[in-house]
Amino acid sequence: MRRIAVLISGGGSNMLALARDLAGSDLGRIVLVLSNDPAAGGLARAAAMGLPTAVVDHRPYGHDRAAFEAALRAQIDGAGAEVICLAGFMRVLTPGFVRAYAGRILNIHPSLLPKYPGLHTHARALAAGDAEAGCSVHLVTEDLDAGPILGQARVPVLPGDSAESLAKRVLVQEHRLYPAVLRRFLAGDTARLDLQA
Ligand code: GRF
Repeated sequence: MRRIAVLISGGGSNMLALARDLAGSDLGRIVLVLSNDPAAGGLARAAAMGLPTAVVDHRPYGHDRAAFEAALRAQIDGAGAEVICLAGFMRVLTPGFVRAYAGRILNIHPSLLPKYPGLHTHARALAAGDAEAGCSVHLVTEDLDAGPILGQARVPVLPGDSAESLAKRVLVQEHRLYPAVLRRFLAGDTARLDLQA
C-alpha cells in the first residue's frame, strides 16, 4: 500500500478524482493533501472526504525556496508519503526537491506535452490553430513540464472554442487520465497510456 501526498494550490478537482478512484483500493492511500495556499478550495473538499490536510503558505518564505520546500518536506515526510502527486500545484519545485523524491513525483499538465509547457496552455493551442488539445501526466524532473510522459488524453478543438470552453473539456479528461495513470504507476506499470475523449 503506497502512501501518497497530493499537492494542490486551488480547487483540487484532480485531487478529488484521485481520492475517489483510490477509495477502497489496496494500491495506494492518500495520507496528506498539502496546499501552498491557505484559501485553496481543495482543502475543504479533502477534509470532507476525511483526508488529512496541511498548509505551508509560500508567501512568508519570500524568495527562499529552500526554506519553503524544507517545510513542505517536513509535512510530506512526517506523513510518511512516498509518492507525490502534483494536482494543480502552482509552485515551481527546485532541483533539490525533485532529486529528493526522484522518480516518485507525478504531475498533470493541461497540454499535449511537449507542446505548451508552462502557463496559458489552452490559449496557446487556440492561437496556434491546433485541431486538438489535451492533458499529460508526467514524471517530474528538474526541467519544468519536461519529464517522461506516463499518459495523455486528447480532445478535439471545436469551432468557437474559447480558452475557458477548451479548459472545461480538457479538465473532464484530466479526471479520467490522472487516476488511470496513477493506478498503473502504483502497480509498477509505466507503459504509456493514451486516451481519446
Ligand atoms: C487543471 O487544469 C490542472 O491541469 C492544472 O490546474 C488546473 C486546476 O486543477 N494544473 P485542480 O482543479 O485544482 O485539480
